[in-house]
Amino acid sequence: MASTTNPLYASLSAKPSLPKPNNNSSSDLFVRVQNVNAVSLRSSFVSRTTAVELIGGGNSVLSATRMGSRSMICASSAQVVDQSPSKTDSKVPTIVEVDLGSRSYPIYIGSGLLDQPELLQRHVHGKRVLVVTNNTIAPLYLDKVVDALTRGNPNVSVDSVILPDGEKYKDMDTLMKVFDKAIESRLDRRSTFVALGGGVIGDMCGYAAASFLRGVNFIQIPTTVMAQVDSSVGGKTGINHRLGKNLIGAFYQPQCVLIDTDTLNTLPDRELASGLAEVIKYGLIRDAEFFEWQEKNLKSLLARDPSALAYAIKRSCENKAEVVSLDEKESGLRATLNLGHTFGHAIETGFGYGQWLHGEAVAAGMVMAVDLSYRLGWIDDSIVKRVHQILREAKLPTAPPETMTVEMFKSVMAVDKKVADGLLRLILLKGPLGNCVFTGEYDKKALDETLHAFCKS
Ligand SMILES: NC(=O)c1ccc[n+]([C@@H]2O[C@H](COP(=O)([O-])OP(=O)(O)OC[C@H]3O[C@@H](n4cnc5c(N)ncnc54)[C@H](O)[C@@H]3O)[C@@H](O)[C@H]2O)c1
Ligand SMILES: [Zn+2]
Repeated sequence: MASTTNPLYASLSAKPSLPKPNNNSSSDLFVRVQNVNAVSLRSSFVSRTTAVELIGGGNSVLSATRMGSRSMICASSAQVVDQSPSKTDSKVPTIVEVDLGSRSYPIYIGSGLLDQPELLQRHVHGKRVLVVTNNTIAPLYLDKVVDALTRGNPNVSVDSVILPDGEKYKDMDTLMKVFDKAIESRLDRRSTFVALGGGVIGDMCGYAAASFLRGVNFIQIPTTVMAQVDSSVGGKTGINHRLGKNLIGAFYQPQCVLIDTDTLNTLPDRELASGLAEVIKYGLIRDAEFFEWQEKNLKSLLARDPSALAYAIKRSCENKAEVVSLDEKESGLRATLNLGHTFGHAIETGFGYGQWLHGEAVAAGMVMAVDLSYRLGWIDDSIVKRVHQILREAKLPTAPPETMTVEMFKSVMAVDKKVADGLLRLILLKGPLGNCVFTGEYDKKALDETLHAFCKS
């Protein structure tokens, strides 16, 4: 069982109090620091992130305040539960604010947002824009985005760079193509880079924006579920090195994230399901009510029901925004967003990138993390069953590929970014649904048992 030898222990829980509008301090959070190697998160009641409706209504409206020039109507994530997705007017964007002081920014979520040029244009700095996209997305959405940037705005000129599609191009050579275009087009410091695409494009364009002329303005237009619920929010940008994924990069926050849910209409089914793995993750680590909602609405999500998707994206962004606002640079708490990822990365690396999508590997990884949590006696078996059930229903894997061996897992996990002082820290579930810990204090024998239970050799 967990030893108590580590010197510090950080536990974060929230008082179940109503949110204070525009609260930039963490005063409504109860933080007890005992161990930086282990973070325990109970956050169903955390209400620091403000979920904002341009035109709010019903139960979601708690109070109104002004932030800068924007009118804000704030609601806690707990209150948002009461808002039935069907009540959302999909043409009116929902806004989730990422609260990072002077680097705060809005996430706009809704249908038809690319037909509302003013949303994008208010975040463009300067007169020059570079849209970074790939050869799959360009034919589908590039014209629409150029129109949204320029309609009624003749002073702005837009260049674009179309990269080859695929994780294998998330590298330095492809990044150089962005810089080539920016330099050839004589873009200056007051330019804006726009990422139009999935997580690969978002991560690469963000890193290009962070480093071109030491940093230019940056906007995210994510077009996969994975990017809309996860990668476009929080400012992690970067590229892969041949020796490992995402090893080169920067924290660099965008000016805004614009999520037009209509873009999901062209997304392949397998990519949709892969993104849902991250949605399910939020429920498991910190939002039991959201998990229950997912159990009831999974069919609608798979059928791409627009209001169900919009709600799942909004709720996911709220969860991510909240964690990022509390721990932007991942000193502990943010690591909890990696439930299943240590096992998942081993699958992605061991099985070969591109064989399984990221969300598929994470789904199998979550099952393994849940299995370990159960072996440790930290959760009851009803959670194990529910996780299997929801992943199966989402058509996601519930076990690693048969070719994975215990040794393959161990060798990749040994170089995981979450290893500290030789100790592999994992995100594990503990307590009732919606609670997790990030810790190196677990019985290593149980980890061995989990690996052997999922691998033939
Ligand atoms: N920065 C972060 O915090 C973070 C978090 C999670 C994942 N990531 C990164 O994100 C990447 C995975 O992102 P992804 O799953 O979006 O993969 P992706 O960017 O490769 O997109 C998946 C596929 O869907 C296509 N596509 C995208 N939008 C489409 C649309 N609307 N219609 C049709 N096709 C479309 C893409 O061209 C691609 O072929 C990985 O590189 C991962 O490391 C980053
Ligand atoms: Zn992930």
